[in-house]
Amino acid sequence: MLFRSVRMIAPDQHLVLVGLMGSGKSTVARLVADRLHRPVLDSDEMVERRTGRTVRDIFSSDGEAAFRTIETEVLREALDSATPCIIAAAGGVVLSEANRQLLRDSGARVVWLCADPTTLVERVKGGGHRPLLDADPEGTLRHMFATREHLYREVADAIVLVDGRTPAEVTEAVLR
Ligand code: S3P
Repeated sequence: MLFRSVRMIAPDQHLVLVGLMGSGKSTVARLVADRLHRPVLDSDEMVERRTGRTVRDIFSSDGEAAFRTIETEVLREALDSATPCIIAAAGGVVLSEANRQLLRDSGARVVWLCADPTTLVERVKGGGHRPLLDADPEGTLRHMFATREHLYREVADAIVLVDGRTPAEVTEAVLR
């Protein structure tokens, strides 16, 4: 685990998990939330609740740009929440400078769950809310790792390596 600075999470701070698809953000967010007795917010679920549509349907009917606009709205809503939460932020939130600014301005602690694409490809089988992986999951994840790594690094206060670790072990690392 690499720390930019050793600062524990304050009682009034959100904790945001970022990372590529399949890195375990949603699972670990729930486990961390149980341990800290906090609510969980998952940005993809918030998009689906707000629109009454699936992420896949928004991508296929309205396109990725439309999805990204809603994603920014729900990220803002999550970070504005008065109750300190554990936020599982979808893999693409770091793409937009506006979102990265929201993360910085919020004062939230941000943890990057970092995994090798080889690990990720095993975990993302089965379509679901990940239309970007329909064609070539492994190639796409490798490309995403190469093009997004610096963005995850930019927003992260800490990096937790997830390769070869169980969700429980990753949770302990996040809490540490
Ligand atoms: C995406 C990640 C997905 C989902 C959408 C796009 C991305 O969320 O928002 O398929 O661009 O990385 P998860 O990271 O929760 O799988």
